[in-house]
Amino acid sequence: MSIFPASDANWWRQAVVYQIYPRSFADANGDGLGDIAGITSRADYLQQLGVDAVWLSPFYPSELADGGYDVADYRNVDPRLGSLADFDKMLSALHSRDIRVIVDIVPNHTSDQHEWFQAALKAGRGSPERDRYIFREGKGPNGDEIPSDWVASFGGPSWTRVEDGQWYLHNFAPQQPDLNWSNPDVRADFVKTIRFWADRGVDGFRIDVAHMLVKDLSMDPLPTKEELDAIPVDGNHPMWDRDEVQDVYAQWRAVFNEYDPPRMAVAEAWVASDRVPRYANPHSLGQSFNFDLLEADFDAVQFRRIVTHNLSLAAGSGSSSTWVLSNHDVVRHPTRYGLPNPARRADGKPAIKHGQEWLQRDPDGPVLQREQGLRRARAATTFILGLPGSTYIYQGEELGLHEVYELDSSERQDPTFFRTHGEEVGRDGCRVPLPWTASGTSHGFGANGSHFPQPDWFGKYSVETEEGDLESPLRMYRSALALRKQLETSETMEWIETGRDDVLAFERPNGWKVVTNFGTEPYAYATDTVALSSEPVFVENGKVEIPGETTVWIAG
Ligand code: GLC
Repeated sequence: MSIFPASDANWWRQAVVYQIYPRSFADANGDGLGDIAGITSRADYLQQLGVDAVWLSPFYPSELADGGYDVADYRNVDPRLGSLADFDKMLSALHSRDIRVIVDIVPNHTSDQHEWFQAALKAGRGSPERDRYIFREGKGPNGDEIPSDWVASFGGPSWTRVEDGQWYLHNFAPQQPDLNWSNPDVRADFVKTIRFWADRGVDGFRIDVAHMLVKDLSMDPLPTKEELDAIPVDGNHPMWDRDEVQDVYAQWRAVFNEYDPPRMAVAEAWVASDRVPRYANPHSLGQSFNFDLLEADFDAVQFRRIVTHNLSLAAGSGSSSTWVLSNHDVVRHPTRYGLPNPARRADGKPAIKHGQEWLQRDPDGPVLQREQGLRRARAATTFILGLPGSTYIYQGEELGLHEVYELDSSERQDPTFFRTHGEEVGRDGCRVPLPWTASGTSHGFGANGSHFPQPDWFGKYSVETEEGDLESPLRMYRSALALRKQLETSETMEWIETGRDDVLAFERPNGWKVVTNFGTEPYAYATDTVALSSEPVFVENGKVEIPGETTVWIAG
């Protein structure tokens, strides 16, 4: 049962949400895998950090073909991570510290171990069991040619053939068969799942690949990959962001609104920004991730454009914007900022996932500028924490952790690595268990090692080390989160002209100002009320000199 006042239906609008990747957060039972009791044991840490909510990446039973995003049972806890009773204990430990809980719903696909998929395999072609997934005959006289040449998200073909000769669609790994959202069982079952967690007291939901669910694959033959990619994504694309997906969310919204306070939801929808409001409006999921900063360089012009654009999108749809610099799918931001800017395609997007191209352990590749990357990350983080809207922070970023690129091929787990034959290293480097102590077995993560090896340099970034250092990232995050409460009374800001293209400044209605120097030349600003800074600064004669790659917050 939630302890929060029923009237606070808007708690999420400016919340700081801390993303926990449960298998790598804290391991209470010493099996090398983080667990639910581990999260409970760190509830005080989360409270002291000052977050408003946590979002838990999947903790459901899973064969871990995709780090838990291959769910075998949506209404249970993976036995290696605990039990439903452990979940309830965690929920009340967090609620009693005023921290809300968001869980991840993965509706596009199940695990191939899910009882439905197993039943579909047994039941054979044409059966109601197969109709819950997307099965199809192959091309060619014997149907042994793949139905289309589409490429799955982690590489390799999007279709896999089963024993009796039919093929099934998987937009991700073969162990993640796509569900058929035209099937009423599928719709009903997810409503049941949402109610199951909402009834337990969960406060919100993060919806995985929210733009995919509904598909129209009625054409025969299917378009080729090239043809598919050329179809405009305008609501009628066979696969992505179809307008009908909103019927699913309208139904979910009605369910969310039966609760008091209504349950929040945030879409992971990789769609063009003019289509984001379809997900981020009060009749749909309500909020949607804005991933623009994940693809941006540490660059004032890019940041300003992204902020202005997303604030206006959010205002137009009645939502609040979200700001994200790191998550479990991307190279951690101190590392991105410590490497050369990525090559970009003609449309301005990074040619491959930002930062990834430098992590291939190429001996001739650029050397990671650790200090500079972290300095920029601190400046960028304090910049976004000053903005209206909500911020999602990813476990370990409060420690200033870099991506771990030292993992050996034999230690990798991400399907991306295997399905691209090592061409892309994948996302494991941001999923290495957190260092809680400066030394000791798995740096305090658990009593018996960790499912990914931690590099030696982790000790320097441990909670224990940073607790004792007033200038550490951890202390900076804590101060920023505490001060931020004073900014949350409004959802607007105004840019202040700075006279320099590489310096951004804005003011919140309470008079607080945030100034970020993205350049390297110092910038002087008239004030004597510096409330926070990402690097040490000196205030003299009514002026603060802001060094390069530094943010200051000025109290109103
Ligand atoms: C989302 C998740 C990612 C996962 C994928 C498939 O993008 O964030 O981790 O691999 O969906 O479920």
